[in-house]
Amino acid sequence: MSETKPIVLKIGGSVITDKDGELAARTAVINRLSEEIQKARVENLIIVHGGGSFGHPTAKKYGIKEGLREESQKLGFAETHHVMTVLNGLVMDSLVWHNIPAISVAPSCCVVTENGRIKCFNDAILKSYLRMGFAPVLYGDAVLDEKLGFTVLSGDQLVAHLAMKLAASRIVIGVDTDGLYDADPKLSKNAQLYTNLTLAELKKIQDKLDKSTASDVTGGMLGKVSELIPAVEQGIPVTIVNAAKANRVYKALMREAVEGTIIEKE
Ligand code: IPE
Repeated sequence: MSETKPIVLKIGGSVITDKDGELAARTAVINRLSEEIQKARVENLIIVHGGGSFGHPTAKKYGIKEGLREESQKLGFAETHHVMTVLNGLVMDSLVWHNIPAISVAPSCCVVTENGRIKCFNDAILKSYLRMGFAPVLYGDAVLDEKLGFTVLSGDQLVAHLAMKLAASRIVIGVDTDGLYDADPKLSKNAQLYTNLTLAELKKIQDKLDKSTASDVTGGMLGKVSELIPAVEQGIPVTIVNAAKANRVYKALMREAVEGTIIEKE
C-alpha cells in the first residue's frame, strides 16, 4: 500500500475532443497522453477528464446546469451522463491498454451538489482503490443537486475538491493552450503567458482574464482558475500545461522543467 501523497491530473475536454465537432474524440491524443502517463509511473495518481464535444453540447441543449424544471429534461440528464460515459470509455480503453490500472469512478454515483457546489462526496471506495495502487478516473458529469434537482459538475471543481480532501501533493491541469495568459491567446496575438504566479498575483489578474473564453457550460479558463484557488490556498501547487503538445504532461508529472504556468501559495 502506498503512502505517497496523490497527484491529481485534469485533462481538459478541448484536448481530448474536437470542440467544433459532435461527439468527436481525439483518440490519437488520448493514446499519446496514456503513453505519457504510463511512462511517468506516478505511484498515486487520480485522473479527471472534461467533457468537450461530448458533455457540453448535450448539457447545454437540455439546460442541465440550470437544474430540473420540466420532465423532458430527465432524458437530457441521462443523455449527458451517457455521452460522458462514452468519452470516459474511450479514455479507459486507452489507459488500460497502456497497462495503467485505471478504474472509472462515475461522479453521478458518488457526488451530490447543492446549488452546483459539491456537498457530499462518497469517496470511501475511491480511497480504497487509491490505497491499493489503482488510478481512479473521474470526469465532469451530470449529478444530482439538493436544491436544483440536478446540475452539471465540472471536472475542475472535482479536481480541487479531490486534491484538498486527499491532501494531494500537486495538481496538474492539461489544457489546449501553453498555460494561463493575460488574454485569450487564440484571439489576441499579444497575449502574455504567466509562468509563475503566487496566489496574491493570481487573485489580482483574475478580473483581467478574458471572460469571452468562458463560453462552456462550466466556465472556460476563468472558471478553471477560480475553482483551483481554494486548493492553492491549502498549499497545493498547480501546474497548467499544454496537454495538446507532446511530453508537457509527462514533464509536469515528473516535476521536470516545462513550459506552462505554476501557481503557488506564495
Ligand atoms: C464538463 O466537464 C462535463 C459536462 C458538460 C457534463 P468539464 O467542464 O470539466 O469539461 P471541459 O474540460 O471544460 O471540456
